[in-house]
Amino acid sequence: MSTPKIRHYLQFSDLTLEEYQYVIERAHDIKRKFKNYEIYHPMIDRTLVMVFDKNSTRTRLSFEAGMHQLGGAAIYLNTRDSQLGRGEPVEDAGQVMSRMCDIIMVRTFGQDIIERFAANSRVPVINGLTNEHHPCQVFADIFTYIEHRGSISGKTVAWIGDANNMLYSWLQAAEVFGFHVNVSTPHGYEMDMSLVSTDRFTLFANPSDACEGADLVNTDVWTSMGYEEENAARLKAFDGWIVDGDKMKRAKPDALFMHCLPAHRGEEVSAEVIDGPQSVVWDEAENRLHIQKALIEFLLLGRIKTDNQPD
Ligand code: CP
Ligand code: NVA
Repeated sequence: MSTPKIRHYLQFSDLTLEEYQYVIERAHDIKRKFKNYEIYHPMIDRTLVMVFDKNSTRTRLSFEAGMHQLGGAAIYLNTRDSQLGRGEPVEDAGQVMSRMCDIIMVRTFGQDIIERFAANSRVPVINGLTNEHHPCQVFADIFTYIEHRGSISGKTVAWIGDANNMLYSWLQAAEVFGFHVNVSTPHGYEMDMSLVSTDRFTLFANPSDACEGADLVNTDVWTSMGYEEENAARLKAFDGWIVDGDKMKRAKPDALFMHCLPAHRGEEVSAEVIDGPQSVVWDEAENRLHIQKALIEFLLLGRIKTDNQPD
């Protein structure tokens, strides 16, 4: 009997459009169950291990609570007090952890680290953020857009700010879902084109112009985790890239505002925008829970019968 191929989720391009549509349908159902306090325990006796090399609030909480709600268990490890912090090779950690648990989430620095981990794992590995990608957040954001506005296909997403992990995952999503990204990054902080494999984007020198006619305006911190020593230089270079009311006025009147959080009011976004009526940031955060539960279900159980299908 052949062993089924392990599916990892290391970057947004790891699932097809058809698979995304399936997992999104499952996320709607899993979210409805959660809201109705309906018990759903397909992960009894299954264990998720979470490995954190960087700080987190939403990612830890959504994976840990999500696995618990699915009837399984979650274990938190970090570099500080695991052997990874004392130089155990990531390849050895992948071998060992995957013999004791059913699924693994890793938040780390370089994408190469999670790729090496996954190459040595017997179980699915999920990217909980690397320097280059944050696919779970963008998956939750697309789900959030669909909940508020329907299909994202053919729409225009403005990206204002740093060329970081979130932007690269949004660009992969643009290729999968068929939308366009208007990108405006300050001089000296442009995209690394080796990480871009789509032409579904336009570059704008002026961030306000990038917002023109957008269906969704998106930003993120100017200094991502791991780049803290650049903070002072970035504050200067990003002057003018704040998403404020004037920039939102250039977008469509019903445009949404998104930010993966944590946010810095007065830096990348004004309080009036992030706390205003077009902002869906709390929905994005909550949807991490629902989308990741559906993703875990898909990676471990494959396609299951949905509630809409007849017996
Ligand atoms: N958006 C996000 O991933 O948040 P955390 O860093 O708190 O996990
Ligand atoms: N770009 C940010 C996202 C945090 C969730 C970072 O990498 O720090």
